[in-house]
Amino acid sequence: MRFEGKTAVITGGSSGIGRGTVDLFLREGATVVMGDIDDAEGTAMMSTMGDDFHFQKCDVTQEADIKALMDYAAEKTGGIDIVFNNAGAGGPRDPIDEISGDDWDFAMALLLKSVAMGIRYAAPHLKKRGGGAIVNTASICAFQAGYGPIAYSTAKAGVLHLTKVAAAELAQYKIRVNAICPGFIQTNIFAATLGANKEEALEINSILGQAAASVQPVARPGVANDIAEAAAYLASDAAGFVTGTHLLVDGGMLVGTQASWDPEIPGMLDAIVPEHLH
Ligand SMILES: NC(=O)c1ccc[n+]([C@@H]2O[C@H](COP(=O)([O-])OP(=O)(O)OC[C@H]3O[C@@H](n4cnc5c(N)ncnc54)[C@H](O)[C@@H]3O)[C@@H](O)[C@H]2O)c1
Repeated sequence: MRFEGKTAVITGGSSGIGRGTVDLFLREGATVVMGDIDDAEGTAMMSTMGDDFHFQKCDVTQEADIKALMDYAAEKTGGIDIVFNNAGAGGPRDPIDEISGDDWDFAMALLLKSVAMGIRYAAPHLKKRGGGAIVNTASICAFQAGYGPIAYSTAKAGVLHLTKVAAAELAQYKIRVNAICPGFIQTNIFAATLGANKEEALEINSILGQAAASVQPVARPGVANDIAEAAAYLASDAAGFVTGTHLLVDGGMLVGTQASWDPEIPGMLDAIVPEHLH
């Protein structure tokens, strides 16, 4: 019961990583206030998640919605101790030589400004409590090309720098700020990004689940609870001396190319130099 007596605000908790984190934090004794654009699912969760769960509709691209979520959480539960700025989506997929300015702005609003405003409007409440912990969801896309769209990846890299500078500014108030960089986690984000309907989403998720075992050294799909456990650590007192950093939770995906762990894939030298010269 790491979070007994604590209030955690979690965004994007209607699905995937956020949903897994809601479940874990409730099991660990937290009162959870969840904000999500998916009103129907959030409202449905109100009747199944118990008295320690509260939902408020929140579109994280809207500054006023984020402020309202933080204020509601503080008013409803007496204060805020933990914030998980997690809501997101794949966003526009156009390459840099095609993307429109409006699409770029939307991706930044959804994935970067949302986190900045989450910190902005949580901080006064955390200060009132004498401190707290903020965890932001970034991505392996923050480090390398090829894992997600350019606007998404740029925004996630921004989340990492935002995390560092905010951690430096807020440490004086005993507020820690950290980020998690998930690898490939089996959630609805991929089907949603492809605009799939429910049936297609099931098929896409099943294909991705099977493929996931071979795309990183840890040979199984990443699941929401893998990220929830990382969020719980960073939000807990066990991480009291950890701030301004990120935790990579990717099953080893970024250790190197597939040749670094898969004996079936030839290493770079083997691939380039003809076999008779080996
Ligand atoms: N799944 C992965 O492999 C992966 C990898 C790296 C990072 N991430 C990040 O993890 C976070 C959660 O994604 P997920 O994989 O759980 O996806 P998901 O689609 O399962 O969940 C995303 C949640 O965010 C909500 N949301 C979307 N737009 C919103 C908005 N404007 N306002 C409020 N809520 C909104 C959705 O309704 C949904 O509940 C995102 O920030 C995503 O970028 C995911």
